[in-house]
Amino acid sequence: MAAKVFGIDFGTSTIKIYRKNEGVIFDQKNLIALCNGQAVAIGDEAFRMLGKAPDNYTITYPVKNGVIADINNMLILLNEAFAQIEKKVGKITGSEIIVATPTDITEVEQRAYFDLASNCIAKPKKVRIVQKPIACAIGTGLEVMNASGVMVVDIGADTTEISIMSIGGIVSSKLVPIGGNTFDSLIINNVRKKYNLIIGNATAETLKKELAFACEPEHLTYKICGKDVLSGLPIDMEMDSEMITETISESLYQIVDNVKAILENAPPEISADIMDSGIFIAGGSANIRNIDKLFASETMLDINICEDPSNNVVKGLGIILESGSKYNSVAFASGQISRIG
Ligand SMILES: Nc1ncnc2c1ncn2[C@@H]1O[C@H](COP(=O)(O)OP(=O)(O)OP(=O)(O)O)[C@@H](O)[C@H]1O
Ligand SMILES: [Mg+2]
Repeated sequence: MAAKVFGIDFGTSTIKIYRKNEGVIFDQKNLIALCNGQAVAIGDEAFRMLGKAPDNYTITYPVKNGVIADINNMLILLNEAFAQIEKKVGKITGSEIIVATPTDITEVEQRAYFDLASNCIAKPKKVRIVQKPIACAIGTGLEVMNASGVMVVDIGADTTEISIMSIGGIVSSKLVPIGGNTFDSLIINNVRKKYNLIIGNATAETLKKELAFACEPEHLTYKICGKDVLSGLPIDMEMDSEMITETISESLYQIVDNVKAILENAPPEISADIMDSGIFIAGGSANIRNIDKLFASETMLDINICEDPSNNVVKGLGIILESGSKYNSVAFASGQISRIG
């Protein structure tokens, strides 16, 4: 029988859905486009409209700062994602869903993830919740069920989730509102201030990917096109890695300071474990060059950058789904689903 078991990572920038026995089956921008209030596109299709749509369009991210900010649009987007999946794999009603949720959020915010999955068109029989850091650690290949403490720092789009785990549970966790989008906004502001040049989010993200270093930048340059503040006309200009690195530096140090604070408050036995294993860095922003060097020099610990870092959470959900009852204690149901018919 075809598997109807799914794992979902509702990221701020991307939504990823894993299907048991198959792998990641949906990986698109977590974005919805509305025209006069009606949904007209989701995911990557909505992303292609960003910055180009007429005034009667609204293009929004339903997840903000790591939590579901707009539950109605998130449900429309999720239903459309499942409709696309159903076209590929056949009937999905009566499924089972595992959702990854941040740890350091309110009970009401946690509950929204459960309700969302319960009410989607997959009409699940069962919805289970896994804490994101646990899924991330499992996706990184760490043995979270044993008694050794581990630290994972997931630097995503809107947030950085810093967590210490031991014996399949969270010892401490903090959701810091800094991530890749913060760096993009800082780049937009600084390019305008320094060069009188207006650029959009996509250009700022490209500059970050091409030129950002967490520390010790090599000299690289990249040519962009923006709008001159004074003349309003499009012009080309060359940017360099030193400027981009300096622009994002303070925010990176804020992340490092939060990591140090969590380490300082960790129980001594767990600190000793982290001394041995080092810190694991995941999330798409872990791709910033020399981020390992910055964390190593500031914490004096070994730093491990996870392989394919933006997929660690969804990979972890996949491992939980595929491994029978091994992870039953980390994936728990958080309410009853009552369904008529
Ligand atoms: N090569 C790269 N260099 C720098 N940043 C990158 C690179 N690749 C991806 N990113 C950034 O990673 C971020 C997306 O990371 P990720 O997919 O982990 O986020 P998310 O899970 O959707 O968000 P969150 O966890 O905050 O809810 C974006 O800001 C993107 O610009
Ligand atoms: Mg994420």
